[in-house]
Amino acid sequence: MKILLMGPPGAGKGTQAEKLVERFGIPHISTGDMFRAAIKNGTELGVKAKSFMDAGQLVPDEVTIGIVRERLSQDDCRAGFLLDGFPRTVPQANALNETLDALNMRLDGVIDIQVAREKLIERLTGRRICRQCGATLHVVFNPPQQEGVCDKCSGELYQRSDDSRETAENRLDVYAAQTQPLIDYYQQQGLYQRINGEQPMSVVLEDICKALGRTV
Ligand code: AP5
Ligand code: ZN
Repeated sequence: MKILLMGPPGAGKGTQAEKLVERFGIPHISTGDMFRAAIKNGTELGVKAKSFMDAGQLVPDEVTIGIVRERLSQDDCRAGFLLDGFPRTVPQANALNETLDALNMRLDGVIDIQVAREKLIERLTGRRICRQCGATLHVVFNPPQQEGVCDKCSGELYQRSDDSRETAENRLDVYAAQTQPLIDYYQQQGLYQRINGEQPMSVVLEDICKALGRTV
């Protein structure tokens, strides 16, 4: 299964990706996670990405396209993968098409999780992440049993630096301007499927699996 998960910041891509990769046994390729890991490890890629991410802007295409191309060429992606947060611009989508053609691969579906803007702001500003295992929670919608502590591993929960209200607003503006055009792009390719992301997490998962022709 070769899946592309789209949707604005806070739509629930990461939340659903976690379940989908487990269900289909495929690698999760999140450019945001790759950049955050690079920042944490202090690599050259992290240095390049940090200022853009902190401002809620996109990391330049030439940087982003290179890392995804390299990742998709690895052996564990042959049978399938889930792309989360890539592509986000038309040049990235064109580069993805070229890369998949070269690898003799085709996407099975493009899933767009849709949520209204005011709800996205609420989700982003209330999101908490586990420093140890990476689990995603929410202070209201998916609260930990003990404040500030991960349910799964007892790790410390933190707020992403780009989840402040101001940066979240910027990210949503950037999404509307640069990523929304991909809806037409994938509609024209007959791959696009829209999912209502304002439902409980388990229902969103069920709808995505149905759209991909697989029931939960
Ligand atoms: P990235 O890490 O990709 O972030 P994003 O797209 O902004 O998406 P988020 O991770 O914020 O949200 P999500 O949709 O995964 O939501 P989640 O599941 O966590 O990108 C970060 C930055 O990296 C970018 O700004 C850019 O700078 C750079 N970057 C990344 N990719 C790039 C690219 N291709 N090109 C250039 N730059 C790139 O859910 C959010 C919250 O809501 C959680 O708290 C969750 O518990 C809750 N929630 C989820 N589902 C539900 C539900 N159904 N009901 C209620 N609450 C829910
Ligand atoms: Zn944890």
